[in-house]
Amino acid sequence: MSATYDIILFGGDGDLSLRKLMPALYRGEVNQELDQDLRIITTAFGDSVNRDEYVANIQQWLEKQLPDRQFNPGHFKAFSRRITPVALDIVDPSKGWDELTKLINDSAHECIFYFAIPPSLFAKTCENLSAHELITDKSRVILEKPIGYDRASAEVINNAVGSYFPEDNIYRIDHYLGKETVQNLMVLRFSNYLFEHLWDAQSIDHVQISLAETVGLEGRASFYDKAGAVRDMVQNHLLQLLCLVAMEPASKMCAEVVRAEKIKVLKSLRPITGDDVFTNTVRGQYKAGVVNGKEQTGYLDELNDQLSKTETFVAIRAHIDNWRWAGVPFYLRTGKCLQKQYAEIAIQFKPVSHRVFRPEAGHMASNKLIVRLQPDENIQLQMMTKDLDHNDILLQKMNLNLNQGVPQQNADRDAYKRLLLDCLRGDSTLFIHRDEVDSSWAWLDPILEAWKNSDDKPCQYAAGTWGPTESDEMIEKDGFKWRNIKNLLGGA
Ligand code: BG6
Repeated sequence: MSATYDIILFGGDGDLSLRKLMPALYRGEVNQELDQDLRIITTAFGDSVNRDEYVANIQQWLEKQLPDRQFNPGHFKAFSRRITPVALDIVDPSKGWDELTKLINDSAHECIFYFAIPPSLFAKTCENLSAHELITDKSRVILEKPIGYDRASAEVINNAVGSYFPEDNIYRIDHYLGKETVQNLMVLRFSNYLFEHLWDAQSIDHVQISLAETVGLEGRASFYDKAGAVRDMVQNHLLQLLCLVAMEPASKMCAEVVRAEKIKVLKSLRPITGDDVFTNTVRGQYKAGVVNGKEQTGYLDELNDQLSKTETFVAIRAHIDNWRWAGVPFYLRTGKCLQKQYAEIAIQFKPVSHRVFRPEAGHMASNKLIVRLQPDENIQLQMMTKDLDHNDILLQKMNLNLNQGVPQQNADRDAYKRLLLDCLRGDSTLFIHRDEVDSSWAWLDPILEAWKNSDDKPCQYAAGTWGPTESDEMIEKDGFKWRNIKNLLGGA
């Protein structure tokens, strides 16, 4: 019989727990996806914690975080019964650990330990869990990103956690992999004959992956300034999306096989080193501007540090050196305070080899497959058709739309919930193996190193634009243009 699990949430009073994890678990409650007996034990920093106040705080956050009418007092009452906060100091075994131990031992359930805490505390937390004999061979641990700030520091973290938990019980989370459209991308690729035969350098011209954000620091300045866009978004979300686009078909959908294919992609990324860093990457930093009609202060002023060289934008031209992708550029881009908030993968196919229509028939665009992750979940295939309103042949672009739901329904889907449920079921297919972490850092380290050693500052861009002009120049040199979306929701 499979074990029943409790969730032990370290950092239960932190931003991630309040903004993402509690809403995700609450949605699990509403959809009756949580085991009836599942307990949620959370740790809060301090000498004591008042349960009623803690629960009231969670209620307030849920009311704020969940879209209109999703909060239901009846469901919350049931949900809140599961929650027990414990005041605990992660690094000091004399503060709160005995109480946590007693609570855990009160039940025969196994534990999922969720580390929603800075990675610098992972090792100590493992040490204290072990000292209190709370780790069994069935315990699972979920690790939040960032796993380190470079390859060496990631290895230290992975070794430390790995000395307490076997790799199979470690769930490194990347919430992008819990987004429904990301999984749909795999279905699209691996269950359509059409794409099976067109998914390579013979047919695909180039790929663009954009994770554009309108938000700025959101009160996370001290974290963000040490990280920057590469560590915050590229090392994890962007490279994971790249892997799913580029990986070989897995022989079956299981963690071992899927993750092995992703690792092969990461290891095939052409290294970008030395002077190549400055021709294949652009780093940017936003200055003052207007985003969504609102004045936005420049990054340095927001940070109150005029010397920071942290990038809030990055664009990279990547190549995957293997048979499938030889010669196909992958353009990766992400940034804060850009003009629109959206995430998408655009696969541009090659132009047809010979044009049979006269020039007056109009422009013949190449086919494009657009996989939009957010704000709407939307997959479209752009095709050329005849404009039927004219006798003469006039070419027009039309979209085959694979959109399955209204945007509001899409917004209700929750990547964290999906991944938490996967972990409860013991399915780690959508979690990251330590070798993926290692390979992605191995590729990014030389880029970060070259930037660090350069006297150049990040290129400036006004908040509310599409990033620095240098990023446009980089892609235009290859004869392409970034897809900058003006009208979201429904349109590609
Ligand atoms: C997080 C980053 O991992 O992803 C944030 O730390 C970023 O800086 C966020 O804003 C974006 O996630 P989503 O799901 O809102 O696109």
